[in-house]
Amino acid sequence: MPRKKVSTSQAKKNKTKKNTIKRKSQASGNKKKTTSKNISSNKKKVVKVEKNISSGKFTPWQTVRGMKDTLPQDQPFWYQVRRISEKLARDFGFSRIDVPLVEASDLFIRGVGEGTDIVEKEMYTFTTRGNDKVALRPEMTSGIVRSYIQHGMQSLPKPIKLFSTGPVYRYDRPQEGRYREHYQINYDAFGESDPIIDAQMIQIAARVVQSLGIKAVQIQVNSIGCPTCRKDYRNLLINYLESKKGKLCQDCKRRLEKNPLRVLDCKEDKCFQVSSSAPQSIDHLCDECRIHFKTLLEYLDELDLPYAINPKLVRGLDYYTKTVFEVWSAQEDGKKNALGGGGRYDGLVKMLGGENTPAVGFGLGMERLILEMKRVQAKSYSHPKPKIFLAQLGDLAKKKSLKMFLELEKNGILLAESFGRGSLKAQLRVANKLGVELTLILGQKEAIDGTVIIKNMASGEQETARAEKIVDIVKKKLKTDNVVIYKK
Ligand code: HAM
Repeated sequence: MPRKKVSTSQAKKNKTKKNTIKRKSQASGNKKKTTSKNISSNKKKVVKVEKNISSGKFTPWQTVRGMKDTLPQDQPFWYQVRRISEKLARDFGFSRIDVPLVEASDLFIRGVGEGTDIVEKEMYTFTTRGNDKVALRPEMTSGIVRSYIQHGMQSLPKPIKLFSTGPVYRYDRPQEGRYREHYQINYDAFGESDPIIDAQMIQIAARVVQSLGIKAVQIQVNSIGCPTCRKDYRNLLINYLESKKGKLCQDCKRRLEKNPLRVLDCKEDKCFQVSSSAPQSIDHLCDECRIHFKTLLEYLDELDLPYAINPKLVRGLDYYTKTVFEVWSAQEDGKKNALGGGGRYDGLVKMLGGENTPAVGFGLGMERLILEMKRVQAKSYSHPKPKIFLAQLGDLAKKKSLKMFLELEKNGILLAESFGRGSLKAQLRVANKLGVELTLILGQKEAIDGTVIIKNMASGEQETARAEKIVDIVKKKLKTDNVVIYKK
């Protein structure tokens, strides 16, 4: 059937009519939706959400349990931890590596170990739309090892030292120093089996912590042997623990089957009693592991680091071999949580499909470092404060001030402004509050003349200068040490 031709003006009219009808029907639809039944159900929802907020249940506009915001006032601590740890990584020859937050779940199941708390209870796992089973990383080492193998890093000159930092996810019971999202700093070295590297790792861990102002640290160290000698030790331990099974907590009874070494660091009183008389791994090391541990202790003696052998230290991840260690604050109040921990993992690269490669490393918890820094009143980073304020008055001046700010900033001069405020009085109040030395005033007249007023805030003296010379004049006025040159 031939289509009826419609003139352009008619078409426009029809379109407008259609849109009007559409809007009307939307409006009536909305009206229909707002019945008294709906109002009361909405009210119920609000009440339910309020109840959830007060009871700490999940609500979409509160942080999820175990997660937290890092607010601006805390950033100087975070920045301090980042800059110190990155600087020390460079000083000790580490290159930075970043690996994804999401990896195949199997990577962690194999790497960290099936019987560990991390894999059994704490992993955030999900299936993607493409049906892949993935997990938010519950630790960083497995991903780093995966990347090491995937990118053929074994061909690089050894040792290959990698530094990494970022968030880690564990569905644990949240409490102070234990979160479901926490940030770690990791240092790992591949390709060296000499215990001198274990000692250097411990040295770096202590150095990072002490450089952050946590001066009193304690290192706990142990050796859990290699797969060969650990097999015999494991059997010995199982025999001992079986004989005391009745005295163990429910969790440890389960651990006894899958991961008996973990019974040793259970914090339950009754398990602690049992593990105190348990056979110790260092008494059952093969010759190679014994010499490795003895040499490590000799290096630590040389370093003058305060360390203690903790025979119950086994760590919560299955990949460790020989050396395991933790870093603790030596302050009484700081003894609740380890600041960091690590060890040797000589079998992990091979287990994940790479060449036989010895490796050693550790992770530090950033939140725990910051909690301890605050407790010992360590310094956070303080950013240089601006010494100059740029004030503007009138429309043209306001427009020019943006460009002048950029000109000064490009030349390394740190300055403040309050562009949104209209009155000069209000802007000078801000300048006074900030304690700046000079205020540059760009008024309507100055904007037209191409000048700017320079006001000395201490003496109140004012002078007028050419706008195009302002950078040089400001640099001269503030003695060199007063000008904050923050760009090189
Ligand atoms: P990790 O001991 O499980 O080791 O974690 C390292 C550090 O992360 C801990 O010492 C602690 O400071 C912090 N941390 C762990 N869990 C939490 C949590 N739930 N909340 C806050 N902080 C926490 C590892 O993850 C190994 N991958 C470290 C490593 C690197 N081993 C060799 N290379």
